[in-house]
Amino acid sequence: MVTSVLPITKENIERAKELVTAGEVVAIPTETVYGLGGSAFDDNAVKRIFEVKGRPNDNPLIAHVHADYDLSKIIDYDPPCAKLLRKKFLPGPLTLVYPSTGKVSPYVSCGLNTLAVRVPAHVGAQAFLKAVDIPVVAPSANLSRHVSPTSAAHVYDDFAGKIPLILDGGEAVGGIESTVLDVSGEIPMLLRPGLVTKEEIERALGYEIATMSEPKQGERVKSPGVLYKHYSPRCPTKLFKAEEKATALQACLTEKEKGVTVAVLAEEGARKYFEERGFAVLSLGSTPQEMAASLYARLREAEQSFQLLVAIEPNEQGGVMTGVMNRLRKACTSSDVAH
Ligand code: TXA
Ligand code: MG
Repeated sequence: MVTSVLPITKENIERAKELVTAGEVVAIPTETVYGLGGSAFDDNAVKRIFEVKGRPNDNPLIAHVHADYDLSKIIDYDPPCAKLLRKKFLPGPLTLVYPSTGKVSPYVSCGLNTLAVRVPAHVGAQAFLKAVDIPVVAPSANLSRHVSPTSAAHVYDDFAGKIPLILDGGEAVGGIESTVLDVSGEIPMLLRPGLVTKEEIERALGYEIATMSEPKQGERVKSPGVLYKHYSPRCPTKLFKAEEKATALQACLTEKEKGVTVAVLAEEGARKYFEERGFAVLSLGSTPQEMAASLYARLREAEQSFQLLVAIEPNEQGGVMTGVMNRLRKACTSSDVAH
C-alpha cells in the first residue's frame, strides 16, 4: 500500500473523509500528538487500528468529535462538572471519560461501560471532524510502545505502507497526549496527566479531584493504558534525577570509554555542563511548555543517532511538568510494566 502524506486542504479532507467512511484508517494531526483515526461506529475499522498499531486489546481508545457534535448520541450522562470543564478547556487537550450509551463499536472501550471523548483544538483536526461528523477513534499514531508522533514524518516512519493517508497538519504544538479525566464516578479522577493540569482543573471546579494511584501487579485498573510501557525510544536509556548530574556524567564517560555513542537529554540549563565535557546534548528547552513540545522529537532523534540516551530530569515540578515527567519516566522504564 502506498502511504500518501498530504497537507490539510479542503480537497484532502474530503479524501480522508471518504477513506474513513469506507472503514479505512488514516492519520490525523491534533494539537497534542498525531492520531490514527477510524470510525467509532465501524467494528472492523476499530479492530484494524488495534492491529496496525500492535496495541493490546484491553487498552481502550478515545473518540474524537468536533466542537458542535451532539454528545448525547454517545454518552449516557453528562455530569455538571463535565459541562463546566468543557466550557473552560475545550476544544483543547483534555479528554473526559463518561458513562457510554454503548452506541459506538464495543471494541472502542474494550468492554468498559465508559467512553473517553476528546475535542481537539487543532484547526485541521476540527475541519476534518466537522466534515466526517461522526466520532473518530484515534490512539496516538505510533507503533505500540514506540514514542508518540509529533509530526507527519514521525507517523510515516512507523506506518509507511500500512495506512493509505497521513494528513499533514504541521508539528504538534502541545507535544504530549491529552490529560485524561474520568468524570463517570462521584469525584472526577485524573487518569493521565497532560497539558491541562490537575491544578487548573481543581481551580475551575473549586474542589480537589482524585488521582489514580500507580496500580499494583494484577490489579484491575480504570485506564489500562497507564499499565503499559510507552513512549520508548529504541535505544537503551538511563534516567537520572536533576541533582545527579555528576553521577550521570560518570555514566556517560564510562560508556564512551566502551565505544558507545551517548547523547544527553536535558533541559537547556544543563547543556553547557555536558557539552563542555564532550557530550552531545539533546535539549528539551527551558519552559515546561517547551519541554512538553520537544520531548518526543528528541527521543526519536536519540534512537536514530545514538546507542545510549542519558536523560536528566528537569528541575521544575508540578503543573505541566507532571505530564512531562510522567512521559519521561515511562520512556526510561526498562520493565514491560510501568509500576
Ligand atoms: O492527545 C491524545 O489524547 C492523543 C491524540 C491522538 O488525541 N490520543 C491518545 O490516545 O493519546 P491513546 O490511545 O494513545 O491513549 C488513550 C488513553 C489510554 O491511556 C487509555 O487507557 C485511556 O486513554 N482511555 C481510553 N478510553 C478510556 C476509558 N473508557 N476509560 C479509561 N481510560 C480510557
Ligand atoms: Mg499512545
